[in-house]
Amino acid sequence: MPLFPIDTSDRKEIGRTGEKVSAIGLGTWSIRDPHRAFEALVYAVELGIDNIDTAEMYGDGSAEELVGRVLRAVGREKLFVTTKLLPHRFRDEDLAEKAMRASLRRLGVKTVDLVLIHWPDTIASIEKQIRVLESLAEKGYTRYIGVSNFDAALLEEALSYTRKHEIVADQVHYSVAHREPERGLLQLAIERGVTLQAYTPLERGMVARYDLLKKIGEKYGKTPAQVALNYLISRPRVIAIPKTERKERVEEIVGAMGWRLKPEDIEAIEAWRP
Ligand SMILES: NC(=O)c1ccc[n+]([C@@H]2O[C@H](COP(=O)([O-])OP(=O)(O)OC[C@H]3O[C@@H](n4cnc5c(N)ncnc54)[C@H](OP(=O)(O)O)[C@@H]3O)[C@@H](O)[C@H]2O)c1
Repeated sequence: MPLFPIDTSDRKEIGRTGEKVSAIGLGTWSIRDPHRAFEALVYAVELGIDNIDTAEMYGDGSAEELVGRVLRAVGREKLFVTTKLLPHRFRDEDLAEKAMRASLRRLGVKTVDLVLIHWPDTIASIEKQIRVLESLAEKGYTRYIGVSNFDAALLEEALSYTRKHEIVADQVHYSVAHREPERGLLQLAIERGVTLQAYTPLERGMVARYDLLKKIGEKYGKTPAQVALNYLISRPRVIAIPKTERKERVEEIVGAMGWRLKPEDIEAIEAWRP
């Protein structure tokens, strides 16, 4: 039996909001060619991807500007937008508000769907960071709040401090080759209804080279990258957010949905060490 029950749905709930998004969204870190990326992201929406991840840090704001252009092209309502503010913003409500307003300006929207603390700040307490995070939702800048790079202990702590707004997501490094979230965090997320947004799910392209994934993929007529993404979305509560700026790879990524690995192939990946 796989370590977790297999989730066969390609629509995943965000936290306990009742709202669902596609099991695969797209990331926007380290864009090389914004024009090409724009085409790829618009194409992804046409193919049914409805969530996108960005951050004030990516390209010094240029990734948010790119997402803004995509939103204007496809229509704001077509995409669930996640952005992330730098940790030190969460030391103070005014600092966070100023950074949030700058993000919204770059995105060209009044509200984002989800804002995350990019990684835990080491100076402000977790309680303070959550207070400041909640204030952004209180002020109407974001519909939902969440965290990123919080391990199980930190997530549990963060969850204990929320008052009016639930933490709906934790964005963490999770891939076939980096399975740390399976040691506690994923179980907590399942129990507490927190969505895990799996970042670097393709190990920056490395997954394409893994022989085990090639071998498994051949059985399904799928590529190693599709196997790697399918493994992640087979987990309850997990959404994968790969990045590509190539249309042909958008098709490949979309082809990671609509089917599921058999339990024995999930087990083979669980037992494998790259
Ligand atoms: N919260 C955090 O701290 C954090 C940290 C890292 C990332 N993230 C988010 O997660 C997103 C994804 O992570 P990531 O960008 O680190 O890595 P990734 O998605 O694992 O890999 C992206 C890289 O793989 C290439 N690629 C895409 N599809 C491929 C395929 N089918 N075969 C081979 N290579 C392929 C892409 O190149 P092409 O563009 O040329 O296709 C790109 O260089 C980021 O963009 C960002 O939004 C968040």
